[in-house]
Amino acid sequence: MPDASTPLRPLDPTDWDAFRRLAHQMVDDSLDYLRDVATRPTWTPTPAAVMSAIHDESVPRAGIGDAAAYDDFLRLVRPYPNGNIHPRFWGWVMGTGTPQAAMAEFLCSVVNPQMGGLDHAPVYVEQQVVRWYAELMGLPGSAGGILVSGGTMANVLGLSVARRQRAAWDVRKLGAYGGAPLRVYASTEVHSWLKKSCDFLGLGEDAFRRVPVGADFAVDVPAMAQMIAEDRAAGLNPFCIVGTVGTVQTGASDDVNALADLAAREKLWLHIDGAFGAMAKLAQHPQAAAAVRGMDRADSIAFDLHKWGYLPFDIAMLITREDRHLTETFANQAPYLTGMAGGINASGSIYFNDRGIELTRSFRALKVWMTLRAQGSELLGAHIGRNITQAQYLGGLVAREAELELLAPVPLNLVNYRFRAPGLDTDALNALNRNILVRLQEDGIAVPSGTVIRGQFAIRVAITNHRSRDEDFDLLVRESLRIGRELLRA
Ligand SMILES: Cc1ncc(COP(=O)(O)O)c(C=O)c1O
Repeated sequence: MPDASTPLRPLDPTDWDAFRRLAHQMVDDSLDYLRDVATRPTWTPTPAAVMSAIHDESVPRAGIGDAAAYDDFLRLVRPYPNGNIHPRFWGWVMGTGTPQAAMAEFLCSVVNPQMGGLDHAPVYVEQQVVRWYAELMGLPGSAGGILVSGGTMANVLGLSVARRQRAAWDVRKLGAYGGAPLRVYASTEVHSWLKKSCDFLGLGEDAFRRVPVGADFAVDVPAMAQMIAEDRAAGLNPFCIVGTVGTVQTGASDDVNALADLAAREKLWLHIDGAFGAMAKLAQHPQAAAAVRGMDRADSIAFDLHKWGYLPFDIAMLITREDRHLTETFANQAPYLTGMAGGINASGSIYFNDRGIELTRSFRALKVWMTLRAQGSELLGAHIGRNITQAQYLGGLVAREAELELLAPVPLNLVNYRFRAPGLDTDALNALNRNILVRLQEDGIAVPSGTVIRGQFAIRVAITNHRSRDEDFDLLVRESLRIGRELLRA
């Protein structure tokens, strides 16, 4: 065992000049990689040899050095990415990131602050970006918020706030079953985070009451009102309505004004899952305005910045109407965290630890702060608006082709379509379209993802990509037709 006098190679560089050269090389290589992204395939499958080179390596007990480790990254990792930084990546709902925010991530790691709380500038930066986004989302100055890893986390925290604020008993002390079972209401189109969260929070999956949607995939509000009344009559405890602005399947938005009226009448919490759709609030676009109408009446809003905020993973925000909604749900006393008369732990410092579940947190706020300050919310909004226009453009291209059809309306930034061929039944069409999707991906042409809408397999294009241009959608349609025809002939 080394004693204090044993010389030990430091973890910091021993030759700062050599490390500086390597670090500059990494930056240069990375900027070239980002600049040239469109020249590469959207996605390249990871070769078996690469997988086993990663998988089979035993624990590196003696290091190989910084330069060799970087070479391995260039050889084994960087050529086989997810693809979401490419202009023709539209799968699931992923953002693209920006070079500027990538540099902000580097700066964040250099300063490396702990964001649970204390008195330091990074904490004030997070507080400020929360204020900015609260204002952009139309919430009052008394709003509070916190940055978390993603939409799922922001939503589950929002649901715990709702439970704390609306259960008729002290949930923090008595738990989920201090009274009759709690019930939360959302549409059948709500993202799977809700079911998972009901389980995770100990409410049980049955706590989630699934409300049907109309032809526009928005929740049927009268049906929701009726379910609430039935549950009350059965002695259950309705506590929360979850509305979605931008559903994951079709981009539909619930009528938030109607949900806010219902929540007010029933004294329920209104939480909005705006994972990507809430960002439409920044856009000057009639469809964006329609999607977010009434959102400023919510008690809490969860949204990602790594989707339609175009920031690198991972980052999302939960905002509550009042800051105390968060502290009442999450604040915790411990002698080793208690504020002092002064110093770094002065009482009155901002504690994000009291506004969420994590104590140690990273400085995610820096990339939001630098992006908003450098580029401005108007430019972000203009890109979001352009993505909506692109969805209309793609929808128009599909509608013009006899061999293609739309499987859902295009209210925001999502397009669901399929190749069709006379004489094929649903199963055959589903199989054909699954194969078209796989070919589009495996040939490196584009990465849409797939879903099933009312029994029909759809090629699903979610546009949260600031690099896409009209010609990318022209290519997608051309290639979908070519592959579809080829597969039909085969
Ligand atoms: C509407 C909606 N809600 C929640 C989520 C979950 O967000 P995250 O993947 O950031 O956890 C998604 C993800 O696509 C989504 O589209």
